[in-house]
Amino acid sequence: MRLSNLLWPTVLSAALAGACAEARSAAVEPPLGAVPLIDQDPDPDHIEVRIVAGSARWEFLSGKPADVWAYRDGNDPESAGRVPGPMLLGKVGDRVTVHFRNELPEETTIHWHGIRIPAPSDGSNISQTPVEPGGEFTYEFTLTDAGTFWFHPHLSADVQIERGLYAPIVVRGNDDIAVEADRVLVLDDVKVESNGALSQTITSLDLMVGRQGNVLLVNGQKQPTLSANAGARERWRLLNSANGTFFNVAVPGRKLRVIGWDGGLLSKPYEVETLLLAPGERYDLLVELGGTEGEALELQTSYYDRGHALPDQGARTIATVELGPPVEEPPTALPEGWGQIDPLPVTDTTPRRMFVLTEMEPELPDDEPRFFINDESFPVVTPVVTSRDAIEIWEVKNDAEMDHPFHLHGTFFQVLDQPHLGWKDTVNVPMKSSVRFAVRFDNPGDWMFHCHILEHAERGMMGVLNVVAP
Ligand code: C2O
Ligand code: CU
Repeated sequence: MRLSNLLWPTVLSAALAGACAEARSAAVEPPLGAVPLIDQDPDPDHIEVRIVAGSARWEFLSGKPADVWAYRDGNDPESAGRVPGPMLLGKVGDRVTVHFRNELPEETTIHWHGIRIPAPSDGSNISQTPVEPGGEFTYEFTLTDAGTFWFHPHLSADVQIERGLYAPIVVRGNDDIAVEADRVLVLDDVKVESNGALSQTITSLDLMVGRQGNVLLVNGQKQPTLSANAGARERWRLLNSANGTFFNVAVPGRKLRVIGWDGGLLSKPYEVETLLLAPGERYDLLVELGGTEGEALELQTSYYDRGHALPDQGARTIATVELGPPVEEPPTALPEGWGQIDPLPVTDTTPRRMFVLTEMEPELPDDEPRFFINDESFPVVTPVVTSRDAIEIWEVKNDAEMDHPFHLHGTFFQVLDQPHLGWKDTVNVPMKSSVRFAVRFDNPGDWMFHCHILEHAERGMMGVLNVVAP
């Protein structure tokens, strides 16, 4: 059966029906113009999708298409690859079956970043054999947490993600909040030539700090314009999918209310003027747009010193929000908090582990830098072994000259020594400092932890964790 025209309206109306259960709760708006992956199974609790990775054309500069690698919807014969790829949209409790086909000229996998997944479907370097060109693989998992996640390859990730292979995942649950619009904003940057093609030049600085793009993207577009209503309250799900660029975002004149982190809603929201997103991180925001019809707000990124003396390029606009007719009713009062989070019980006797991050600059001009965790460089690493349901404190000590965002697969953790209670799977560890987090290993299997600056992960800053079922 050809599903495209038949089924995707059903999928959308199902999503909208879910949204209408809560008054004025908006459907999640997929990245500019994209549609969610088509679910070929009418069972409302089973999502069955087909994802194809292959070559595509995409315009980072308007009118100048680039050759990219991209995901497309295998259930839609008309679909073309797009950057970011089509969104996986589901709800807590859904079973998900992904039929994946690799049409790239090299091997790949899909990792479901932040999804608590059975290890054989994690898509990491150690959890599966790579999918060969022309090969297929089926991933199966159940969505257990509401929030914003993403999927991307876990082999040559610095090359494959940069070429366009990444896409958001939104899982709805008991985290609905009445908003006028619920948007996914995927932040990225690419290095493009003046003819629009992706640059093939990788400098030693790119390898050292992660590929530095010259074009900033929101949902695969350079400085897009979003249409909104004056006075609206909107939910923005921000995701940093860049290889190595840190986004330090602000909407001048507006506060950003942070309501969620990587692993879902916080126990208590907080407000900031600027928000730092290291590669791999997600933040869920409420923004009161205010303003009047005809006004435009800017989403900007500004300098953050992440090390190695990168230059301050000043505040740069990454998207514009144009305000249209005002909302009919002003936004209602917000509850105090939504997330039900208990702090992990840690005590003086909780086992601790230390992970020291270091880097080695190349000695010869043609050499590449190497990156280390506890003096080991992947793939030559000693696995960390722990048992299922163990609670531990991990201290990540960054002895390097730049920040490293540390990501752990298979579970979430709670960052200690800071004021907010929430779940993270990726945390920035600033240069020459330490971050501690508490973690419970509820998911048996072989997992990876690594820096999410992709050039660093691919050059050694990656480790292996075995969670053994007792
Ligand atoms: Cu987003 Cu191990 O990766
Ligand atoms: Cu790093």
